[in-house]
Amino acid sequence: MRKIVTTQGFCTPLKGEISVPPDKSMSHRSLIIGSLTKGKIKVSNFLNSADCLATLEILKQLGCSVEFLDENTIVLNAKNVYIEPKSELYCGNSGTTMRLMAGLLAGAGVKCTLSGDISLSKRPMKRIIEPLTKMGASIKSNDGKAPLVIKQAKLNGITYNSPIASAQVKSSILLAGLQIPNEATTVYEPHLSRDHTERMLKYFGADIKTCQKDELFGVTVRHTPLIPKDLNVVGDISSAAFIMVTASIIKDSDIILRNVGINPTRAGIIDVLNSMGAKIEILNKDLISNEEIADVRIKYSPDLKGIKIGGEIIPRLIDEIPIIALLATQAEGKTVISGAADLKNKESDRILCVAKELAKFGAKIEPTDDGFIIEGKNGGKGLFQEGAEVECYHDHRIAMMGYIAGLISAKPSRINDFEWIETSFPSFLQIFETLRS
Ligand code: S3P
Repeated sequence: MRKIVTTQGFCTPLKGEISVPPDKSMSHRSLIIGSLTKGKIKVSNFLNSADCLATLEILKQLGCSVEFLDENTIVLNAKNVYIEPKSELYCGNSGTTMRLMAGLLAGAGVKCTLSGDISLSKRPMKRIIEPLTKMGASIKSNDGKAPLVIKQAKLNGITYNSPIASAQVKSSILLAGLQIPNEATTVYEPHLSRDHTERMLKYFGADIKTCQKDELFGVTVRHTPLIPKDLNVVGDISSAAFIMVTASIIKDSDIILRNVGINPTRAGIIDVLNSMGAKIEILNKDLISNEEIADVRIKYSPDLKGIKIGGEIIPRLIDEIPIIALLATQAEGKTVISGAADLKNKESDRILCVAKELAKFGAKIEPTDDGFIIEGKNGGKGLFQEGAEVECYHDHRIAMMGYIAGLISAKPSRINDFEWIETSFPSFLQIFETLRS
């Protein structure tokens, strides 16, 4: 159902402490990789959101038994066998579901069709079709886009140089490669993208090794029976980023976010906040299910400075760029974000949509071919003076960025189609309510 949310001018300070929602990437992988084991796995702190439920429903269609013990605890009864589904496998809005499932099911030799919603059906799938086809898979598509029709085929291991740093591409190939007996599969990428698949495969006992060739980052997987093990999902740094940025902009804020995943391949936002001069502290570091976590304390940061963001850091903060763009409007000086052309291929064209929506609040933001140029302090005016009517373009992160822009604006704002936040952060409004009171 269509949901419209309004903000009423400047927000009061954020105070207190909360746990952030479970990590979306890890939640998908807990089910997908877990399904390759033979036995019972309890997944605690599973993200009960639309994207992850798409993955869960597909696994049920493939014959896996998945049961909720409570809202965020799942028991997966895995067999490492998938039945041929009777109908299409609907991935909804979730690129992770479609790209990882394609690798899993091509590797398992399961005949199926993967489809998605209007946004997912526009996103590029050639990036996985090409390597999986090189491995011997048979995948028909709508000119490189969904729906993907996968036929049964025998796969062989390959060495693949990915032109882009993408965890979805890397994971799709690794999940297919893991299932090929007696052959190794290696993926190289130009920068290191998030490595949750590698870490989780290792956690379940897979033969997986990382390597480096010239400037490239490689990972090799070999067929291994995976051992079922209970797993705990860490807090999602991409969701935490929206709260961290808001606290750093709103006067007198001081919050602690508990159990945030700080895997270095995801934690670019912490580096950016530090470089811009934010008051941020990382406390109580620990390791859970082979992933680093910590508590993050962040306070109002009146002396934020514009910086250059590009190169190897981009895959480490790719999902945080909408909210980093908003942060940059409140920093002193210019921020230039480059090397992020793949933002055009997300749930929306995030280069166009971020620039368009922030400009409605009076931000000085120029979209470029591969990022943005942002004039800080909102062109000398500090917090936004204008309210706006924000559109979301089927994109949860534009919806959340728009809401926060509303919180730092003098006048009321309205965010249309706010229901899109359900894909990754259903408790978003509740968490903001708790921190404001
Ligand atoms: C994801 C990888 C990233 C990210 C997406 C989730 C994952 O996409 O943007 O939200 O879970 O592997 P790309 O691999 O396309 O960069």
